[in-house]
Amino acid sequence: MAVAPFPQPASDPFALLDASSAPTLVCDAQGLRFANTALRQLLGREAPAGTPLAGLDWWVGEGGQALQAYLAQAWAGEADTSGVELRLHGADGRARAFEFSARPWAVGRDRVLVLTGRDLQDIHTSQETLLELSQLLHQIMENDPVPAFVLDERGRVSYWNAACERLTGVPSRDMMGATEAWRAFYEAPRPLLADLVMDGRVDRVGLEIYGTGLKRSASDPRAWQFEGYFPNLGGRGRWLQVTAAPLQDEGGRVVGAIETLQDVSDRRIAEDEVRRHRAELEDMVAARTAELLVTHHELDAFMANAPVGIVASRGGRITRANRTFHHMFGLDEGGPGGLGARRFFFSRAEYRDFLRTARAALRDGDSFTHEVHLRCADGSSLWVQCIAYLSDAIDGVPQVWWLLQDRTGVMRAQRELVGNYRALKEVNQRLAEAQNQLIQSEKMASLGQLAAGLAHEINNPLGFVCSNLVSMRRYALGLIALVRGHEQGAAPQELARLRHAADVDYVLQDLPQLLDQSDEGLARVKKIILDLKDFSRVDQSDWQDADLNAGLDSTLNMAMHELKYKARVVKAYGEIPRVHCLAGQLNQVFMNLVVNAAQAIEQDGEIVVRTGVGAHEGVDGVWVEVQDNGMGMTPEVQRRVFEPFFTTKPVGQGTGLGLSLSFSIIKKHEGHIELDSTPGVGTRFRVWVPVAGPQGAGRPLH
Ligand SMILES: Nc1ncnc2c1ncn2[C@@H]1O[C@H](COP(=O)(O)OP(=O)(O)O)[C@@H](O)[C@H]1O
Ligand SMILES: [Mg+2]
Repeated sequence: MAVAPFPQPASDPFALLDASSAPTLVCDAQGLRFANTALRQLLGREAPAGTPLAGLDWWVGEGGQALQAYLAQAWAGEADTSGVELRLHGADGRARAFEFSARPWAVGRDRVLVLTGRDLQDIHTSQETLLELSQLLHQIMENDPVPAFVLDERGRVSYWNAACERLTGVPSRDMMGATEAWRAFYEAPRPLLADLVMDGRVDRVGLEIYGTGLKRSASDPRAWQFEGYFPNLGGRGRWLQVTAAPLQDEGGRVVGAIETLQDVSDRRIAEDEVRRHRAELEDMVAARTAELLVTHHELDAFMANAPVGIVASRGGRITRANRTFHHMFGLDEGGPGGLGARRFFFSRAEYRDFLRTARAALRDGDSFTHEVHLRCADGSSLWVQCIAYLSDAIDGVPQVWWLLQDRTGVMRAQRELVGNYRALKEVNQRLAEAQNQLIQSEKMASLGQLAAGLAHEINNPLGFVCSNLVSMRRYALGLIALVRGHEQGAAPQELARLRHAADVDYVLQDLPQLLDQSDEGLARVKKIILDLKDFSRVDQSDWQDADLNAGLDSTLNMAMHELKYKARVVKAYGEIPRVHCLAGQLNQVFMNLVVNAAQAIEQDGEIVVRTGVGAHEGVDGVWVEVQDNGMGMTPEVQRRVFEPFFTTKPVGQGTGLGLSLSFSIIKKHEGHIELDSTPGVGTRFRVWVPVAGPQGAGRPLH
């Protein structure tokens, strides 16, 4: 802005003030004497010399009165040294604060006041900024969630924020100005980190107090920090990260210290937890590793010592094999690694078939068991039982474990066993046949013993039937001659003679008797023949439900002809159910007992045959007893009666097989036989058989 030159004499003694950059004016009691360039430029207008001081209002505005009063004091020599504050309205239209101070000055005889202005605007602005800043700072600190406090240079608390109140439970009003800030944290006095930072002892004393955790802050080398546990804080104690930094003025002088206390308990707990977890994890890993190692060793030992061949294979190649496998197939130790499985088979076709069946089983997750001929290194054959199962796949290729057992010996033994079994079965079969034959021959032998009696029994009726026949033939001839005489019309005397010769009256009386007698005789023979046929039948060996009382009757009938000369037979049958049995064979047992009884009797003896029902070990059964009062048996004989071929009878009378065969017949029925005998008194045999027959009866057992 162009400023018009101030009209002033060249000799103006105040012209020098134009050199000052501070707005300056000179006045005397009348008014303005001089305004320097700096002032004029500031105001942007002229103030003609001689303007009365009252007229200065125009540039000082509402400050005019204060200026007047100040000038008046200045004239009187009482002016305040600090001057007067005025607001000047500048050329740019903005008001600016100035402090004008007056200094009396004498120019010749004149006395003037020189007023020099100092621009206050910058100071004001910075003061306001400072105030705002400190308020902001206060707010920041107050609202900061991190607890913080400040000590002044004498160690007194000059600041204690809300977070600090919350952490320590001590209100700010109790702490402000206090020198014993440690009380909020510790039970006994100790320098706080802020104290140490402030008095510069942190390097020396700090480590003693706070230990090696104390470190310089990475972000501010003047600040120090440590992490510590404060058992008195927050009820259960807190972990705090404590940072203290010195506060310095512009000259670098320490005027206080700030300490922040960041609660890191959660982090510490989390860290501890993590540490604990990691330790646990490490322990677990260590334990697992040890276990694995043991397992590994055990597996190695197991494989090495296993008495079966163990092989692992992948993709048709052997990856691992134990010692037994080497021995089995005659391979060098360390030999089969990488060997193809094909070489252990005699033909490609066998290998293919084997693989097909194995894969089918393994694919379904089953294990696979198979017996197969395998080929040894020397080309010989081994009969091997393979058990295979799939283990986890490595790189997608499944691994198969094979257990191989040499079954060559077992197979041989098995074949022998099968052969032996067949032979045994044949022998058994032959034995059964032989036994049956024996039973049959014994039957015939006992028949032989009965033969004399039977012959007599048959002879007797046969004798009188024969003699009757002779009589009847004679009668018939006489009668025939008489009938012929009648037919041929013979003379009456001739007829009378024939009638007399035929003895018709006697014949008519005798003939029916003869016929009846003959009938009865022949019936007796027929019955004996029937009984004989019945007894000697070989085919009555089927299991059937038979009435043992009836069987005993027919047996006794057969024997009776032999017995009746020696003993009386007493029957004492009980009421018994039908028994599932081989009736023909049981009859043979009874026959032998009865014949033995008769043979033990000299004469006039008695044989009692009893039957009844009785359970044995919970099984319903029927018993048959044959008791005699014959010569009895010594204990020695009793012990041996069931031995085959044991007999005390002369050749021709005894075979020694009767009781032995009886014993096996009764065993076949799952029954039993017992005897009770006293020499000179008699013998009693008792046979017991189950009503339902043996378990599994119905199958041919012989
Ligand atoms: N009721 C009995 N009284 C005396 N001894 C008997 C009687 N039953 C069997 N014995 C004796 O038992 C032996 C063997 O009998 P057994 O096996 O039937 O053969 P065997 O009758 O052919 O001699 C007879 O020789 C006899 O000594
Ligand atoms: Mg006998």
